[in-house]
Amino acid sequence: MSKTNEGWGSRVGLILAMAGNAVGLGNFLRFPVKAVQNGGGTFIIPYLVSFLLMGIPLLWVEWSMGRFGGRYGDHSTPFILDNMTKKRFWKYFGVFGIFTNVGVISYYTYIESWTLSYTIKSLKGDFLGVPLNQVGEMFDHYVNISGGINLPTWGLLAFIVTLGINIYILSRGLSNGIEKVAKVAMPLLIIFGVFLAIMSISLGATGKCADCNSHIGLNFLWKPDAKSLFNPTVWLEAAGQIFFTLSVGMGTIHCYSSYLRKRDDIALNAMTAGWMNGFVEIVLGASVVVPIAVGYLGLDWVVENAGFMMAFKTMPFLFDQWGPALAVMAGVAWFGLLFIAGITSSLAMGTPWMGFMQDEFKWSRNKSAWTLGLLVLLMALPTILFFEYGVFDEYDYWTGTVSLVVFALAEIILFAWVFGIDKGWEEITSGADMKVPFVFKFVIKYITPAFILVIFLASLITPEGGDWSSIFNGNYKLSSQSIIGKILHVGETNKSWFVNGQPSKLFFIDMSRVLLISLFAGICFLVHQAQKQRSKLK
Ligand code: TRP
Repeated sequence: MSKTNEGWGSRVGLILAMAGNAVGLGNFLRFPVKAVQNGGGTFIIPYLVSFLLMGIPLLWVEWSMGRFGGRYGDHSTPFILDNMTKKRFWKYFGVFGIFTNVGVISYYTYIESWTLSYTIKSLKGDFLGVPLNQVGEMFDHYVNISGGINLPTWGLLAFIVTLGINIYILSRGLSNGIEKVAKVAMPLLIIFGVFLAIMSISLGATGKCADCNSHIGLNFLWKPDAKSLFNPTVWLEAAGQIFFTLSVGMGTIHCYSSYLRKRDDIALNAMTAGWMNGFVEIVLGASVVVPIAVGYLGLDWVVENAGFMMAFKTMPFLFDQWGPALAVMAGVAWFGLLFIAGITSSLAMGTPWMGFMQDEFKWSRNKSAWTLGLLVLLMALPTILFFEYGVFDEYDYWTGTVSLVVFALAEIILFAWVFGIDKGWEEITSGADMKVPFVFKFVIKYITPAFILVIFLASLITPEGGDWSSIFNGNYKLSSQSIIGKILHVGETNKSWFVNGQPSKLFFIDMSRVLLISLFAGICFLVHQAQKQRSKLK
């Protein structure tokens, strides 16, 4: 409930900012790795189906929810949801819309800071002539993976600088900060991406090994293969990727679109941003790391070593094969591209907190931005200092994976069933600059919620080794990666917090959970306070 002078400056700016929100490290680091781990071409069909039946509907739903809430002067998920129903408890589901962002930004900006350092290192020529294993060690040294609790001095410094840049831009506001950045950064990202894709595609066979050929890598990712259609694990991974890459189920889109005006189009804008993300992911994201690595190291190596560290530990060495001038250019293009992709997303993650504090507690933009900075610093320190104890992965699992599915399920039920699909459809189509295919009314009401529900249930009880038939033949064992398995620490042999007087990995993992739960509870408390104030004002 606030009068705000925030708003988007232009339609192009809005679309680029929304595309910037979606296009992120997920497109270049997460997608290729997930695709390789799930069999390459076998990943692509579940991925596209999830995009059509879950991604696109959720985009429309979230954009329209945001614009709807904005009409009442609300810019944060809890109170956007609150407008859609008379039931008070829904706004506590909306807490996810702030929590997820603060949780993710806390490890995401850390990766982003690596990309900034690596851009500078590439520019300085630090990787020229360095052998593969040493490039890898440079990274380990940088994040200080040494088994002990050590201070990664440069890593920490780069993180604080990166966070500072984010906070500064956020404090400049939507049209003066985020939108301006997006308008310059997104075209640059496309240019860098196209340059790298051309380099990669023209690489072809390098003769380093029998099947060292970038085209083999491209083929592996792009050639649809129906083999996995009946493998639920591949579906889970594909759906999870769709959530992460489109930034749905997070509250970021609600916040961005709440600054739209009542008559602004959402149907076409949402499609434009969504497909732009798809292009960057499937065409550019798939064209860089994997094919270049296959070109020099072969497909088997890549399948065996797939991991998002490849981008840092392997790429600088591979670029070096192109001679110093191209190596510097490619290094700057690659890490610069990652930095741009990262920052336009982390800025988006900052906005829900800002909108909430400005709306509810009448804080200034500056105050909202700097408190966010402090909060993120506090949350991020454990991931930086105890990186090798799995704190980072723990954040990613709960805030970057599970929360999205839980919240998306809640919001689609709210939208299609509580608010009602007729009113919802009206919201999606009003002011629309395109004809929204009518089947989507049906899809949003039945298919998308059912799809998400199945994904959620399957994630709860994923069997060990992805062996789904075990459920029926009595050999069922809970996977350590399933939600229940995680909660129960399945597969963890050490069950105590201290071993020989030293804190164990289990200790750090449980402490991360305490921290995340406290964050969630803290935001619930703020929402509760905000509600109390609102009731008083009435
Ligand atoms: N979509 C982004 C990516 O692909 C990630 C992202 C953007 C995100 N906004 C978010 C993740 C909000 C969690 C919360 O990298």
